[in-house]
Amino acid sequence: MRRAVASCGPSLISDTGAEIELTHFLYRSTARGDLGQDEVNLIIAKASRRNHAIGLTGCLHYEDGLFFQWLEGPRTALDKMIQLILADPRHSDIAKLSYGSSAQRHFPEWAMRPTSRAQGSLMDWVATTDVSTVNRGAYAGAVSAFLVAITH
Ligand SMILES: Cc1cc2nc3c(=O)[nH]c(=O)nc-3n(C[C@H](O)[C@H](O)[C@H](O)COP(=O)(O)O)c2cc1C
Repeated sequence: MRRAVASCGPSLISDTGAEIELTHFLYRSTARGDLGQDEVNLIIAKASRRNHAIGLTGCLHYEDGLFFQWLEGPRTALDKMIQLILADPRHSDIAKLSYGSSAQRHFPEWAMRPTSRAQGSLMDWVATTDVSTVNRGAYAGAVSAFLVAITH
């Protein structure tokens, strides 16, 4: 899997010297019913290539037919990518969990880190902790902490 060489920190510097705000997006979605592991692998391979080219990094967790994706990078590039992802017919029921400024990247070395049950079960983890799945902020914090924990 391709690793991205991306700079860390709350702001990035563009070609013109302007500061670009480091922004993140976290969501949960339902994979199309007939989506196979081969297609998921293809999504990740293509995402890695494109993210690498535009300075995005992140993690895509796939478990029990659900996607959980953390994406981070310059706000303009991220916003464009979010529109593409929201319109992608390979998933639906997209629940936006968190969007906003980030102090630093969680996945500076990964253009798109793939994870699954093999690394850890988010469902099991949610079931065994008292994290609220109703409070979006608390749930988002727990999901991102889980993704960071199983990849570091
Ligand atoms: C769950 C999921 C996550 C995705 N994540 C990314 C991503 O991080 N980066 C990316 O370039 N494409 C990602 N894609 C693919 C985009 O939705 C879109 O298909 C891709 O940007 C290519 O768009 P285009 O070839 O139509 O321009 C993802 C798709 C799905 C279903």
